[in-house]
Amino acid sequence: MEDRTERDSVTYTVEDRIAWVSFNRPDKRNCMSPALNRRMLEVLEELEFREDVGVLVLTGEGTAWSAGMDLEQYFRASEKEGLGAVRKAQREAYGWWERLRWFEKPTIAMVNGWCFGGAYGPLFGCDLAIAAEEAQFGLSEINWGILPGGGASKVITELTGFRNAMYHAMTGENVDGRKAAEWGLVNEAVPLAGLRHRVTIIAKVLLGKNPTALRATKWAVRRVREMTFDQSMDYLVRTQEAANFFDAEGRNEALRQFIDEKSFKPGLGAYDLKRE
Ligand code: ACO
Repeated sequence: MEDRTERDSVTYTVEDRIAWVSFNRPDKRNCMSPALNRRMLEVLEELEFREDVGVLVLTGEGTAWSAGMDLEQYFRASEKEGLGAVRKAQREAYGWWERLRWFEKPTIAMVNGWCFGGAYGPLFGCDLAIAAEEAQFGLSEINWGILPGGGASKVITELTGFRNAMYHAMTGENVDGRKAAEWGLVNEAVPLAGLRHRVTIIAKVLLGKNPTALRATKWAVRRVREMTFDQSMDYLVRTQEAANFFDAEGRNEALRQFIDEKSFKPGLGAYDLKRE
């Protein structure tokens, strides 16, 4: 069957400020070809600063979230062309995963099915991850004779404990959504039938928060992982000051609603953004 065009390899719709982005090569289990990687970067750029987008959800058409790298097009075809083509293909893939990690808006991986190898890059790139209980996660690299490269070894050790990571990478055994949640690969797992509903609820919670604070928060949580305690303290002081510089109004309004008006409690939910 002929491969879909580059443009069709990723689709999206925007509904109620949620951008639903889909890997769209269901007949190839949404494995990531160079064309898909190029298109995904374009899509992220198209959506990042749109005012009608507050949250991005990344999901897959059909039975897969993503079956990892396209073993034919990403590996075999580019290797046949030489090192230049290999490096180009790597840059295209790693480029959009990095862009996703530092996306301006909150991101949720909605893992509806197969999730293998290279797909751990975008999985980690998303801030939150909700899986179908039926989804299958695997570092299948060992099964076809390579190590989990492309960041996958790093991702698994970032997300779960050493023993789980080692077992997962060395045996190539898959875990389902429930086990993935237990291990920390995803936040939670729900039955596939209720997956979109659950993700919509979480997205709406995020849409109710101050977007400047949300961006600073997600970046802070990612940055401090790699810092010492003192570096983190310093970074957080500076970041908070910078955030105040951009959006002190939101914070001041929140303090007014809590301290003066007593209309909300920060410990129990977000302030009313509409009254800023
Ligand atoms: N690369 C290239 N083609 C792929 C990939 C992939 N990663 N995954 C699936 N396909 C293709 C198949 O070759 C097949 O193509 P065809 O219809 O032209 O024959 C089509 O997608 C459908 O795949 P099936 O295997 O028939 O689908 P099934 O639902 O039975 O199995 C499964 C799904 C388990 C995901 C299987 O396709 C599979 O094992 N894929 C490879 C998973 C993998 O190991 N990915 C690489 C991880 S390592 C890395 O990313 C660096």
